[in-house]
Amino acid sequence: MSFPTHRYRRLRLTDSLREMVRETTLSPSDFIAPLFVVPGSGVRQAVPSMPGVDRTSPELAGKDAKALFDLGVKSVILFGIPDAKDAVGTSSADPNGPVCLAVKAIKAESPKTVVITDVCLCEYTSHGHCGVLKGETVENDPTLKILAAEAVAHAKAGADIVAPSDMMDGRVAAIRQTLDREGFLNVAILAYSAKYASGFYGPFRDAAESTPSFGDRRAYQMDPANVREAIKEILSDVEEGADLVMVKPAMTYLDVVRAAKEATNIPVAAYNVSGEYAMVKAAAANGWIDGPRVTLEILTSIRRAGADLILTYHAKEASEWLG
Ligand code: PBG
Repeated sequence: MSFPTHRYRRLRLTDSLREMVRETTLSPSDFIAPLFVVPGSGVRQAVPSMPGVDRTSPELAGKDAKALFDLGVKSVILFGIPDAKDAVGTSSADPNGPVCLAVKAIKAESPKTVVITDVCLCEYTSHGHCGVLKGETVENDPTLKILAAEAVAHAKAGADIVAPSDMMDGRVAAIRQTLDREGFLNVAILAYSAKYASGFYGPFRDAAESTPSFGDRRAYQMDPANVREAIKEILSDVEEGADLVMVKPAMTYLDVVRAAKEATNIPVAAYNVSGEYAMVKAAAANGWIDGPRVTLEILTSIRRAGADLILTYHAKEASEWLG
């Protein structure tokens, strides 16, 4: 009989005791803050479905990255909304596009910030798919060199890490080889390895103007029902040269985060995506949940599942709450 010998409540009695036996830590340096960048200057537009998130012009992204760094958030990931889109996503490699300009602005304003860029075509193609089309099919192999050119453009601007989110097969190897050939040996790759075809990306697509004009992404992003397949994706990305891997979304995929952590010894990131953020904000705004408490509980749970890093729109406020 364990009771009355074992009284687990003994170690829950005070804040100090609870802190001493806490198994999981949460700190601002665990967070990567997503930033949406638009062309121009002096632009700051709120994203209606993501309260607290703005789209800004590059120089204001620099200011925001500095403010985040001062709170302890060491890294940001950039998403660009270009002026021009075409069938093959030409503007994705524009050295004067919003992402490249924001990389430079952030490096000027906050040199120690680790700048990550999202590498994908959906924001840059007129049809909103993540690769080039043949009829209504996204073509894998012809997309690879466009993604690699985008990654090189970001590296030239000064990005520390490029993060392919397109889900084409072989893109990590293609990007690694091209970066190396162009002399960017030290630019790292954060692979969106296990990225699911999820309904939780809706608010992001409003912000990034990247909703596909027809169909959906199920022929390239993963089926939400699969976890063994996630491990295949992760192991191939590691083999192809990924320095960090990612699981996305986070909250409904914590088992995948755990499996990823056990399958690999490189850092694992989880993306607490826009729909997850919007649900918390909407419920908190209605007074149905305690926003700060629920947010910190979610972020702690993602860490407990095994994530080393969390991409989250809560980065700024959560860092303030963690004080
Ligand atoms: C681009 C990309 C998406 C997200 C990150 N990179 C959207 C998508 O795949 O449709 C979603 C992020 C979020 O919902 O917060 N491919």
